Amino acid sequence: MANIDTICVQGGYHPGDAEPRQIPIYQSTTWKYETSEHMGRLFDLQESGYFYTRLQNPTNDAVAAKIAELEGGTAGMLTSSGQAANFFAIFNIAGCGDHIVSSTSIYGGTFNLFAVTMKRMGIDFTFVDPNCTDEELEAAFKPNTKAVFGETIANPALTVLDIERFAKAAHAHGVPLIVDNTFPTPINCRPIEWGADIVTHSTTKYMDGHGAAVGGAIVDSGKFDWDAHADKFPGLTTPDDSYHGVTYTKQFGLEGAFITKATAQLMRDFGSIQSPQNAFLLNMGLESLHVRMAQHVKNGQAMAEFLQNHPKVTWVRYSGLPTDPYYEVAKKYLPNGGCGVVSFGVEGGRPAAEKFMAGLKMAQIATHVADARTCCLHPASSTHRQMTDEELLAAGVSPDLVRLSCGIEGTEDLIADVAQALDAI
Ligand SMILES: Cc1ncc(COP(=O)(O)O)c(C=O)c1O
Repeated sequence: MANIDTICVQGGYHPGDAEPRQIPIYQSTTWKYETSEHMGRLFDLQESGYFYTRLQNPTNDAVAAKIAELEGGTAGMLTSSGQAANFFAIFNIAGCGDHIVSSTSIYGGTFNLFAVTMKRMGIDFTFVDPNCTDEELEAAFKPNTKAVFGETIANPALTVLDIERFAKAAHAHGVPLIVDNTFPTPINCRPIEWGADIVTHSTTKYMDGHGAAVGGAIVDSGKFDWDAHADKFPGLTTPDDSYHGVTYTKQFGLEGAFITKATAQLMRDFGSIQSPQNAFLLNMGLESLHVRMAQHVKNGQAMAEFLQNHPKVTWVRYSGLPTDPYYEVAKKYLPNGGCGVVSFGVEGGRPAAEKFMAGLKMAQIATHVADARTCCLHPASSTHRQMTDEELLAAGVSPDLVRLSCGIEGTEDLIADVAQALDAI
């Protein structure tokens, strides 16, 4: 494998002689063919090629190939958003009557997708604390369990998943581990190397990095043996009547079956594609991902250390702090640091946190995270403002909680801004 920095810059797209150096944006819905027979072979998946952008587009494929290479997978696909990526990753192998084990510590939008929308589709979820005992994890599995899901670094709880432990439990039950690796990105953690089978991303975050394009990605490790558990995954191991009777594992091998099925069935039917224009922007972000992640971590670590010693700060969560409950797990999975997101409590609760937010000059108030520009959110006065302090605590979001997503600005400027906002309380 090439150095990961080189993959960021050069992966996925390899122009031939006299071809454009930058990935061309194939701004075309459709492709023309000389004969219907040729197009027929494409539709039958006997030959690879392009015919309609809802299924595949060369710009998207090049960027997906880069992300797959970064994660050390065998195949990848882009989706319209991170939400679509997580939905596809699960719906590709689970349907009505099936069951999924998921960490409780996941992004709120994903939790809603699972606990409300996918539940309405007949898929049952059991949520487990990422710190649960082996017995509790074991007890979450059912005969109809089809996958285990977790986030490497959870948004916004900043818990760190013990990937090896969750992978081992999933594999003991003959099902894959799906890991949302949005926050660390493959620069800081490659879950496949620790046993994860499928990796998902909200590319909207660090991968794009510039707040320019909403997007998602799915990468398959190619390692999960669907055929060895054929009874659990008939969609991959038996003929697909909706697609000319193709059996995905037979025709595309373990390395290609999952992504080909997700493309041929789910993208065909749900159409949640990333626009080629957005894929182009995403690739521009990926070209500097390795450089940016180092600065996000530098700023996150410095900010966490500054906050920890500040008299107006009651608590700080950042896995790079030796006092953090996830410090030891992070040392294993995130040896070069995790990300730039730090959460902390302001002394004086909700009103003090509101004053802190009002005092910020450089850090921007935004629901967004994982952006080149520092952004800050006080859930109790914005996204969760309808909740009482008691309701907030029950939801795991304390009224004093501030989520600070450190960007890539100069460390001193960033700390100076937060320091003056704390002083102004
Ligand atoms: C960890 C994680 N996964 C998935 C998503 C959803 O991604 P998107 O907003 O691109 O749909 C988010 C969004 O914040 C996230 O933080």
